[in-house]
Amino acid sequence: MKILYAGSEVLPFSSSGGLADVMGSLPAALKKRDPSSEVCVISPLYSSIDRKYREKMKKTAEFNVRLSWRNQYCGIYSYELDGVTYYFVDNEYYFKRGSLYGDFDDGERFAYFCAAIMEFMAQSGYYPDILHANDWQTALSVIYLKMRHGSEKGFRDVKAVFSIHNILFQGQYDHAIAGDVFDLEPSWAPTVDQNGCINLMKGAVVCADNVVTVSPRYAEEIKTPEYGEGLDPIIRMYSCKLTGILNGIDYTYYDPKTDDSIFRNYTFRSIDRKTDNKTALQKELGLPVSAGTPMISVISRLTDQKGLDLLTDRAEELLCDDVQLVILGCGDSRYEEYFRWLSRKYPDKVAALIKYDKLMSKRIYAASDIFLMPSRFEPCGLSQMIASRYGAVPVVRETGGLYDSIKPYRFVDGKQVGNGFTFAAPDSGDMLYVLRQALGLYRDRDSFRALAVSIMKHDFSWHTSAALYAELYDKILSERHVSQ
Ligand code: GLC
Repeated sequence: MKILYAGSEVLPFSSSGGLADVMGSLPAALKKRDPSSEVCVISPLYSSIDRKYREKMKKTAEFNVRLSWRNQYCGIYSYELDGVTYYFVDNEYYFKRGSLYGDFDDGERFAYFCAAIMEFMAQSGYYPDILHANDWQTALSVIYLKMRHGSEKGFRDVKAVFSIHNILFQGQYDHAIAGDVFDLEPSWAPTVDQNGCINLMKGAVVCADNVVTVSPRYAEEIKTPEYGEGLDPIIRMYSCKLTGILNGIDYTYYDPKTDDSIFRNYTFRSIDRKTDNKTALQKELGLPVSAGTPMISVISRLTDQKGLDLLTDRAEELLCDDVQLVILGCGDSRYEEYFRWLSRKYPDKVAALIKYDKLMSKRIYAASDIFLMPSRFEPCGLSQMIASRYGAVPVVRETGGLYDSIKPYRFVDGKQVGNGFTFAAPDSGDMLYVLRQALGLYRDRDSFRALAVSIMKHDFSWHTSAALYAELYDKILSERHVSQ
């Protein structure tokens, strides 16, 4: 089986969030499961990619890419890692930028990327069995594949899977630029139109052979107006080709036993060493060094999606208790400003690190006792899984992947079940109540320790989910053979 993943970010090369984690770990997990398969990933060659990777990349092709009236250079570089071939699309005009996203011409940049993927297939004769595109930035690759190349030799056998990692970002543009920027033909307008705009995600959902989202619960949620961000009628219409598969995390990259970015390594057997990580981080962040003070952490994009308003609502109330709060992340200025202010007001209780920092995040996971994730919606969420791996007890809102991965701690017939603390409504009072339950358990040292040990043993690796993807791909390919 030949699978080509397309995505706008991939670890360890480029990253701004969970998509990069998935792109950097699912392909390798599939390859590991079935070494005879050919697994490749294609993503942009951003100028921010570390030199140590750049130096080892090999140039494998060079050609021009047509995008409407444009005729642009494209270099293809490759890099092998864990049996997976990573291809990078080089064009400095589009990808030598200060950040991955956020420029006025993002639409054009990713349209070029998608056109380059098609041209790469045509030029190299590399036609995968499955093109698996991820999020709106690669939606056009599915649209081009099916609408433009669907009947061409080579292309016509390629099946398309489209993954929705977050339905909030759909790639919406004015129809006026359909031909000029996206190279869309006028007859395709009904396919890509949603409520009078071009909607690239909608086009990919319509065109793809299968649509996946990153947890079973989110697959249900996006069928509703509450979570569908206006695309719910389309999701309902195409629900027969929609599957929800929970993400996993990379158990090698996130491993407190071997992680060299944390202060002291540990396993569930030596979980007491976590305290050394806590006191070292307290020192590093200038918080009072106190092994017995529970450390609550939030590692998140600072946006409304993450339910941070619930925390800002109750943070000062929470801080009346003997706790320390560590925030890591960046995003909307109102949250950045608020947490900076909070750390100035409570310097002995709050540390606010307003940045995106992967290595620091691991030090915080290793140091914290409780990990808070009050998301208003969460397609999957990886942080609650990473926190569990590092023995920090998750406190989450029951939505999307959080609902699927974290079950409430309780006793059934005298036996402890559950792997965290959860609350249902997006209500700050409920959140505080549940946080206080977790803090209450923290004071019962043995029970808290038993819970932390049990969550460290929970399996959030790709093991189960990679098998579900393999099953899905097999099913798609068996249908292809029937229809031929
Ligand atoms: C997005 C979602 C997050 C998910 C990640 C990877 O960042 O917001 O919930 O875990 O994609 O699929």
